[in-house]
Order: sequence, then structure tokens, then C-alpha cells
Amino acid sequence: MLATPLYNCDYDRVYEPAEDSFLLLDSLESELSFLRSIFEKDNYFPIILEIGCGSGIVTTFLHQHAIPTNKGLYLPVDINPWAIDATLQTIKKNPPTKDLQTTTIVDPLLMDLVAGLKSNSVDLLVFNPPYVPAEAVPNLPPGTNDEGWLDLALLGGEDGLVVTNKLLNNLHNILSPKGVAYILFCARNKPQEIQLRMEGHGWKVDLIEKRKAGWEVLSVYKFQKIKTNF
Ligand SMILES: C[S@@+](CC[C@H](N)C(=O)[O-])C[C@H]1O[C@@H](n2cnc3c(N)ncnc32)[C@H](O)[C@@H]1O
Repeated sequence: MLATPLYNCDYDRVYEPAEDSFLLLDSLESELSFLRSIFEKDNYFPIILEIGCGSGIVTTFLHQHAIPTNKGLYLPVDINPWAIDATLQTIKKNPPTKDLQTTTIVDPLLMDLVAGLKSNSVDLLVFNPPYVPAEAVPNLPPGTNDEGWLDLALLGGEDGLVVTNKLLNNLHNILSPKGVAYILFCARNKPQEIQLRMEGHGWKVDLIEKRKAGWEVLSVYKFQKIKTNF
């Protein structure tokens, strides 16, 4: 089992890693051979995007353990400036071990979803979104020091899917031809309906992990473009 990164941030402003974060880490670890088989070939330099990096635990885990491979550009992004700060600290605390011989760049970005990224450039996308059903997705707090950053981490509007659907509806413009995305859902998001919908649009969708966490049932699904340029 791969080690979990050390992390420590201000949990009044940044999402504290929880069962969802750890389920994502376990899913990515279980996909290691698959990811290496795609991205280790031909000296390829993949772009790894984590949307909503929070404490930085997920991007740091990928970077620390050379997932998907020992080279790449890691872009952890978040809408919360405190999360960018926390991610920088977590990355610094957990460098890859020397024997992995990595050639990587890590560049945390303050950004709303994928705004500003070049189309069809992302090879590995990871998202643990705000998935809790709520009346609406909260507005951005008016100032950096104001409260409300944690609500943005949790509340996902109708069916908990408003933010996730924005991403899914644009996934064909985001992923590269080799691209693969891992997205976390809770049962109230009705992930099986999402699977059917995305398969109807020509995606290959697989359930990677499913786990009961308190009163929630969490799952991680993998989305791939139907093979064209592999
Ligand atoms: C459930 S937390 C996950 C944090 C971390 N990835 C983890 O697994 O522990 C969701 C994160 O998404 C961020 N977020 C919410 N809406 C976003 C958006 N539109 N664009 C980028 N990040 C967003 C939140 O600030 C929060 O850090």
C-alpha cells in the first residue's frame, strides 16, 4: 500500500481530507498499472489536472508516487485561494523519493474548474467535487478572509451535481485523446444514471471503487473517450 502524504492545514478554510479523499487515493493506487500502461510509452509528458485540490493530498499522492509516470506537469487547481496555499505546503512536505527519478513540474492554480486551460490537453483528470445536495451552489465569499470557503467545498446544488455536471458536459473538450478522468460521487448524485447518460454520449465508464462511509455511500468512476488515438 502506498503511503498517504503528510498534511496539515487550516481546516476552518480548507477541506480536511476525509473518507472521500482516501477513497480517491485508493482508486488511483488500484489504477496504477493501467495508468502506467498508457502514459509510460514514448517518453510521453502527461498533463495531470486535479480540480478542487483542497489540502493538496490527492495531487501530492500522485506526484509523490510517480502516478501516472515519473514525468509530467501536475496542475492542482481550486477556486479557494487558501487551498492553493495549502497544496503548495503539502507538495513541499512530501517530495518523491529519489529512486523514482522524477522529472515533474507542479503548478497550483487559482481557477474555476478548467477556465483558461487549452482544449483537449488533460491526460489525467481527478475531481472530488462539492457533491452534497443543496438548494444552490454557494457564491464565492466576497473577501479572502470571509467565511464560506468550506461551504464551497461541500455544497453541490441540485442533486449535488451542479458543479460536476459543468465538468462532465465539457469533458470531451478537456481530455486529450489518451485522456482519462476519475470522479467521485455520493449515492444521492445517482451515479448509475450518470454512467448511462455518459455511455449514451459515447464514453466508456467504469466503477472503480465503492465504499460505505458513515451514512454516505461513495464511489469513484472512470471516464474514458472511446479509443481512437491510443
Ligand atoms: C470535497 S473538496 C475536495 C478536496 C480535496 N481534493 C480532497 O479530496 O480532500 C472540494 C474542493 O473543490 C473546490 N471547488 C469547489 N468548486 C470549485 C470550482 N468551481 N473550481 C475549482 N475548485 C472548486 C473546493 O474549494 C474544495 O477544495
